[in-house]
Amino acid sequence: MLQRLDKFVSHATGLPRSEVKRRLNHKQISLNGQIVTQGKISVSDKDTITFEGKELHLSLPGYFMLNKPAGYTSTREDANHPSALDLIEEFCNPALHAAGRLDADTTGLLLLTNDGQWSHQVTSPRHHQHKIYLTTLAEPLTEQALRLLSEGVMLRGEETPTLPAQVERVDEQIIRLSIIEGRYHQVKRMVAAVGNKVTALHREQIGTISLDGNLQPGEYRRLSDQEVSAFLSS
Ligand code: URA
Repeated sequence: MLQRLDKFVSHATGLPRSEVKRRLNHKQISLNGQIVTQGKISVSDKDTITFEGKELHLSLPGYFMLNKPAGYTSTREDANHPSALDLIEEFCNPALHAAGRLDADTTGLLLLTNDGQWSHQVTSPRHHQHKIYLTTLAEPLTEQALRLLSEGVMLRGEETPTLPAQVERVDEQIIRLSIIEGRYHQVKRMVAAVGNKVTALHREQIGTISLDGNLQPGEYRRLSDQEVSAFLSS
C-alpha cells in the first residue's frame, strides 16, 4: 500500500498535517535513514520512517511481548515507578496498553497492544485464558495449603472464592500456579489466604503464549501472527 509520507506520519502520530509539515521543515523525519523534507513522497509498509528517534509503523495495530523487569508499572501513570510501556521503542497509534497488568515488583510476561478487543480476549475471565506464575514463597508450602489453593480460597473483602487453580510444586518454597481469573493482586492474596507470603512473582505464560526465553529483562519482541490469532480464535 502506497501512501503520502505526511499523511502517514500524521496518521501514525496523531499530529495534524500542519505540524508534520513543520517537523519535515525542521528535518526531524527520516525515510530509510535519510532526512526528508517533502511530505508528498510516497511510502509503503516496506519503508522505515523515523520520528523523534522512534520508528513509525504503518501496520497498526501493534502486539508485543515484554519481559517486564521489577520496578516498572504496567500502567501509564504511577508517580513512583517508570512505565513498562515506555520500554517499547516503537511508535504505535493509538497508544499501547497492557493486556493483563502486573504489579511493579512482578517480573515476566507482559502483553502490550493497542487493540482493545484483543486485550479483552486475553483478560476477560469468560475466555478462560490460563495465566501461569512461578511463585516464590516465604515459607514451605504445606499439603493443606496446596489443596486449598487448588480448590479455591476466599480472599479478604470478597464474596466468592477463587476458581479452582492448578498448583505444581517446583521446590519446597516455589510453586507454579495457574489461574484463569485476574483479580486484584490475586496470587499474592491467594497465598496470604493460606497463611504464607509471596516473596517473588514471575509470569511465565498467558493462554498459549509463553515468555520467549531469548528476551532478557526489559527486552521485547513483536508477537507473531500465529500468537496474535491464538487469542482471537479462543
Ligand atoms: N497476582 C499478583 O498478586 N500480582 C501480579 O502482578 C499478578 C498476579
